[in-house]
This record gives sequence, C-alpha cells and structure tokens, in this order.
Amino acid sequence: MSKIVILTGAGISAESGIETFRAEDGLWAQHRVEDVATPEGFMRDPELVVNFYNARRAQAAEVSPNAAHKALAQLEAEYDGEVVVITQNVDDLHERGGTQTLYHMHGHLKGALCASCGHRWPAPMVMQAGDTCPSCKAPAARPDIVWFGEMPYDMERLFDHLAQADIFAAIGTSGNVYPAAGFVAEARSNGAHTIEFNLEESAVGNQFAEHRTGPASQTVRKWVDELLGK
Ligand code: APR
Repeated sequence: MSKIVILTGAGISAESGIETFRAEDGLWAQHRVEDVATPEGFMRDPELVVNFYNARRAQAAEVSPNAAHKALAQLEAEYDGEVVVITQNVDDLHERGGTQTLYHMHGHLKGALCASCGHRWPAPMVMQAGDTCPSCKAPAARPDIVWFGEMPYDMERLFDHLAQADIFAAIGTSGNVYPAAGFVAEARSNGAHTIEFNLEESAVGNQFAEHRTGPASQTVRKWVDELLGK
C-alpha cells in the first residue's frame, strides 16, 4: 500500500484569507516574533501574547477551508493507500475541510496549555492573561502554540511517517523553520518522490524532485485529481 505524507504551511490557508508569516505584509512584518512567539515574550508580557492569539483565533473562526484543504480531505477519503497530513498551521481549516489523519506540529489555536504543569484543554474563544489551569490551578494558561525555541509536537511519530512515505509533498511553506524544513531531506533519503507546491521556490526548494508552481487551490486540486485518476 502506498503512503503519501503531506506537510502544509501558511500558504495553504492564504486563499482562505489568513495572512502568511513571511509575506511583505505578513504577520512577522506586523509583530515582533520575539514578543509574540517565544516563551520569553510570554513571560515579559502575557497579555500582549494572549491578545495576539485571541485575534488570530477570532480570524480563523471567520474563514473557511478552500479548495486545497478540501482536495486533501478527498484524497484521504478516496486514495487507495495511506494519506497523512502534517500541518505547521494553527488554524483548524484542515479539520473543517474534512481531513482525519492530521498532526498539528506547531500546536493549535483551539488549545490551551498550562505553562506550569503542562496540562492541555480546549481554549475559550477569548483567553485572558492569568487564566487558571483547570488541573493544577496555577494562573498560567497560555495558548497551545509551539513557540520558537520549543519542541514541535509528535516528532518521533512524524519521522516514522516520513521514513515510510512513497510520496512527500510540501504545500505553501517557505522552508525557513526547522525541523519541518528538514522533512524533505528526510523523506527523500528514505526513497520518497518529493513535490513542492508554492507560488515560488522555497528556501529548501532545490531539494525537491518536482515543483508545482501556482496557488494551492489550483495546483493541489489538479494533483489530487491526477492521483485519483479523474
Ligand atoms: N499557494 C501556495 N503557496 C503559497 C500561497 C498560495 N496561495 N500563498 C503563499 N504561499 C507560499 C509563500 O510563497 C511562502 O513560501 O506559502 C509560504 C508561506 O511561508 P511562511 O509565511 O514562512 O509560512 P510557513 O512556512 O508556514 O511558516 C512556518 O514559521 O513563524 C513560524 O510557526 C510559524 O508555522 C509557522 C512557521
């Protein structure tokens, strides 16, 4: 049975209306990474950080999955083999598009995490700095997002999937953030055919065997039709 492992990044949600990180007017042009996406930033100003993710949670709730999210769900449902989606995105557009086997390696906006005991629970739409943990009662609730300097989730399982992949596809990711940017090399060294879907070649683009250039809603849709023989 053949296995397809797909890594997605902010580019797959761009056409749904969520800005990417590294575009000229993207999130990292508007906010300082060290303020809103590091444990040190959270310790310095929890309110700023919680409000940043509250705004992103509200935005994610207003947008809808696009044709690329839906095509991947259809691929999983109809492909004669295994399909695993690994996303760096913290929105829930893959799940709402119908994908079942999904890893949120950088956490997700719908989760809260206790900075004190590590307990995880569903986040309210609006978190407050100093919200208490339902388990240990410490006033240490934070968004369940993997920040710079923190270990992404499920790494061991993800590397197992990469080792078994016959096809590895990366969709809408700039290849700047590791370990995700290293997945192509891992999959390729294990014999996978590798395909990059992007508007332009990414920072690790030269490591892919195949490139499909254009908006994900079109390129991914077409690829899925090919794989399903439509
Ligand atoms: N179709 C395909 N690709 C697109 C589209 C589109 N419609 N729109 C944008 N892209 C591409 C861009 O060309 C770019 O290469 O998506 C990529 C988005 O890159 P980033 O903004 O760097 O997002 P990502 O790679 O997901 O970032 C990785 O960085 O700050 C962190 O934790 C954050 O998970 C994030 C990680």
